[in-house]
Amino acid sequence: MSKKTKTEFIIEELKSVNNPNSIHGIYPYRGKISALDAEQILKQMPKGSVVLDPFCGSGTIVYEGLKYSLKTIGTDLNPIAILLSNGKINIPESLSEAQSEISKIITKAKKLTEFSKMKTSASKHFHGETSEEISRIATYFESMSDYVKACFLGSICLTARGCNHYLWTSSTVGKDITPKRYINFYEKLEQKIKKHFYPIKNSSKIYNQDARKLSNVIKPNSVDFVFTSPPYFDCLDYTAYYAKIIYDILNVDRETIREGLIQNFKEYEKDMTLVLEELYKVCKKGAKVIFVVGDKKIHGKLINGGEFFNGISPFKNVTFLERTYSGTSSQIFDKINNTKRKEQIVIWEK
Ligand SMILES: C[S@@+](CC[C@H](N)C(=O)[O-])C[C@H]1O[C@@H](n2cnc3c(N)ncnc32)[C@H](O)[C@@H]1O
Repeated sequence: MSKKTKTEFIIEELKSVNNPNSIHGIYPYRGKISALDAEQILKQMPKGSVVLDPFCGSGTIVYEGLKYSLKTIGTDLNPIAILLSNGKINIPESLSEAQSEISKIITKAKKLTEFSKMKTSASKHFHGETSEEISRIATYFESMSDYVKACFLGSICLTARGCNHYLWTSSTVGKDITPKRYINFYEKLEQKIKKHFYPIKNSSKIYNQDARKLSNVIKPNSVDFVFTSPPYFDCLDYTAYYAKIIYDILNVDRETIREGLIQNFKEYEKDMTLVLEELYKVCKKGAKVIFVVGDKKIHGKLINGGEFFNGISPFKNVTFLERTYSGTSSQIFDKINNTKRKEQIVIWEK
């Protein structure tokens, strides 16, 4: 390993962790890591390093790593995560290519005389006309390019919010606000394609894979860095929120996805121990493993994320970096729950 990897990572407090002008606003993925935060760490890694995010979610780390010529690999068990990650890294070379693709789809969709209607569990969130427009476009989902697929999913969330007068907040998604407002889905989709168009040279690999069985797809001793924000141990449901609507539209069985994900508090310690063992197998000697975790209040008891993970980790030489949250939705929850949490960045070495 080069000398650079031996040095400790420097992490600075950021005034704001949001960058509205980026690709990451494509979809409101639950538990998305701040791209600016991720970038701080990724830019300190030597070019060409293999960086694995075993819980890649919407692909923030995978995409940001590409900016610094890293070979990023992402795995996740949620199909929405895979669609979004692929959408971010497989972007057409020119905006006009993506625009022409969607305009052809919209023209065909408008002319359809027969198409599958949306399930009522999903259509209830939309104005009737908006829901019909989504169903027409959904007919062509399988044939869409990865970037257009991701924009389609993001536009569904945006129009669902719009049909509910933009009153949904991160904690009230799904709230029934009537009467529903009409939002032109075609226009929203076209706008999204333009707004989030930040192409990048792709050298990433994305796998729809259970992190407890990582070594099925990743070679032993092949990874230089692991960098991830793992599923939270207060068991945030990654299949809830906007995802519920998307599963219904794509005809994906939500329960099957939910059962596979690590979000059962009782099993959490056992599951994460398995993941860490798998990470140990796939890491090279000298590899660094970086987990972004946080304090969590479980059944009234505050658990320090850093200490918890270090207690079950096979990796040695731990370093903890701790800081208070800044500019994230967690701050809002802290205000509501009257808690004061800190975020820990845990770094181990193999
Ligand atoms: C905190 S989120 C990661 C968010 C990501 N950093 C982003 O920016 O979008 C944790 C992820 O772990 C995934 N996950 C949960 N259980 C998993 C498992 N057994 N294998 C792989 N991924 C899993 C969830 O689907 C979720 O996407």
